[in-house]
Amino acid sequence: MLASPDHANALDVRSRLAAIRGDITTLKVDAVVNAANTSLLGGGGVDGAIHRAAGPQLLACCRTLGGCSTGEAKITPAFELPARWIIHTVGPVWRDGHHGEPALLASCYRRSLELAVANSVRSIAFPAISCGVYGYPVEEAAHIAVEEIVAFLKSHAGLAQVLLVCFSDDILQAYQGALAKRFIE
Ligand code: APR
Repeated sequence: MLASPDHANALDVRSRLAAIRGDITTLKVDAVVNAANTSLLGGGGVDGAIHRAAGPQLLACCRTLGGCSTGEAKITPAFELPARWIIHTVGPVWRDGHHGEPALLASCYRRSLELAVANSVRSIAFPAISCGVYGYPVEEAAHIAVEEIVAFLKSHAGLAQVLLVCFSDDILQAYQGALAKRFIE
């Protein structure tokens, strides 16, 4: 039986999105996304790991960008990382969910993907934005990430691969759960 166009589209999208356990600084993808802060001048967590691995040229480059607003994204070369680009985005700090956090987190994924496509990126890796220092509840963040990425993949066939890179098993379980719910596996 031929799959209906919708079903075929869903299968296609599902095959282009995956949650994996790993260290985002090691991935040879076109772009890695950094969970930065508004200064773009580095920090701890994945931001610190990316700056350490990319080398000092990254900070020098970020100094020229004039910071980044929450929910927005800016792109730099990846310097000493195996990736080609780093897309820096600033997630919301979790307060109580009633201060625009969901919309701002969704915007991080959407703006990062728009910037990726504008730079002919075909493979991109995201960390769990806002799920560390910024304290976003992981299940909710994973749901937002999957919804936003799936919506974007449906209308951008050129983006071949999106990886959700989880640095710990609890994050991986949350993202795998969000994918299972979205595609009813
Ligand atoms: N690869 C992939 N994921 C990682 C890595 C890594 N090398 N290192 C940490 N992470 C994970 C964390 O375990 C967490 O699940 O990235 C997720 C996001 O956590 P944070 O890095 O703390 O980012 P966030 O919660 O968005 O807070 C951003 O922290 O580091 C500072 O400068 C940054 O002020 C900003 C804030």
